[in-house]
Amino acid sequence: MSTATETTAASEGLRGVVAAQSAIGDVNGEQGILIYQGYDIHDLAENSTFEEVVFLLWNGRLPSKVELETLSSDIRSNYEAPAQVIDLMKQFPADADPMDVLRTAVSSLDFYDKEGHGTDREHAMKAAIKLTAQIGTISAAWDRIRNGKDVVAPDKSLGIADNFLYMLRGEKADADEARMFDIALILHADHELNASTFTTRVVAGTLADMYGAVTAGIAALAGPLHGGANTNVMKMLIEIGSVEAIDAWVDKALEEKRKIMGIGHAVYKTEDPRATWLRKFSKKMADKTGVAKWYEMSRRIEQIMHDKKGMFPNVDFYSASTYYLMGIALDMYTPIFAVSRISGWTGHILEQYGHNKLIRPRAEYIGARDQKYVPIAER
Ligand code: COA
Repeated sequence: MSTATETTAASEGLRGVVAAQSAIGDVNGEQGILIYQGYDIHDLAENSTFEEVVFLLWNGRLPSKVELETLSSDIRSNYEAPAQVIDLMKQFPADADPMDVLRTAVSSLDFYDKEGHGTDREHAMKAAIKLTAQIGTISAAWDRIRNGKDVVAPDKSLGIADNFLYMLRGEKADADEARMFDIALILHADHELNASTFTTRVVAGTLADMYGAVTAGIAALAGPLHGGANTNVMKMLIEIGSVEAIDAWVDKALEEKRKIMGIGHAVYKTEDPRATWLRKFSKKMADKTGVAKWYEMSRRIEQIMHDKKGMFPNVDFYSASTYYLMGIALDMYTPIFAVSRISGWTGHILEQYGHNKLIRPRAEYIGARDQKYVPIAER
């Protein structure tokens, strides 16, 4: 920074810095409370559907029955991704990371949307609907393409959660699993200015279009310290292998100052309310499949981390074992996060466009000053 009076000293990782006003969601890290537009996440998880939450995040209120039907129908009639995008994905190497594929494919959706350009609410909303409808289609299609399977066409009679599982696995989920997955999408929908949402707002703040902002959000979500943690939780559980091996494994990891994936949070200093639900789902899937190992291992890690470090599981900890027992590939967990978080991203982008100000902070300059240029021949 050039003048000390203009700015305050940098906060590492912008912790505690308020960077935007938003009416979308709020995280109370001390008390472990998460709200979307004033509604407690537990209330929404108990009573709502993901589509209803999408309406809430975009409009700031719960929909009437007719409004919900209209939005659901708008989303469902946009489930189908452009054939050119699916064909493009067929050219990608089979070992491409699903998040890299998602980033590239979502970016290319832009070419085929004639109505979704522009940052006014009418046009931006059209892009938000298409993105929310097609991000699941693309994610599921990639898992099938890379495994040499036929892409399953979306089923417009199904909601977003149900339809995603159908396109991914090629068969309809039972009602129990579909509802569990629907709640998982509700839980992941928004989380205030997390890294990917902040990224989307920075991009939208330049008045770049929604496809650009969401593409950047996907890139940010992919990182292992953000959405990539859920995949790494499952990799960790598989590596540890058994409940008996946990204590020694965790001790060694802590000794070596390695982070335990799915534990800790930048804002929550108590139980993440989303983990409360996902813990239940992990147990439910353990009971349903008769495979208790992953749930029991997770419980033991949770207990050790609580006792030794006073830390709690975050949203990624129990979603890992839940999705694993649903038969979903490990590297698809982060795309699933995106299938949900698209609602929060687009909500924040709409909000940013609504009262935009270019986001342009300052850096605290800690480099040298008054350097004298030395010609290259003399260095
Ligand atoms: N396992 C072990 N120790 C952890 C830890 C974890 N998962 N998370 C934080 N810590 C420790 C750090 O090593 C550090 O210890 P130190 O003070 O002795 O150096 C201290 O807690 C603070 O860590 P820091 O990374 O600065 O905290 P943060 O608030 O910035 O971190 C996360 C938040 C989420 C990035 C961090 O907890 C983490 O990396 N968790 C694992 C990845 C994850 O699950 N991400 C998904 C988030 S939803």
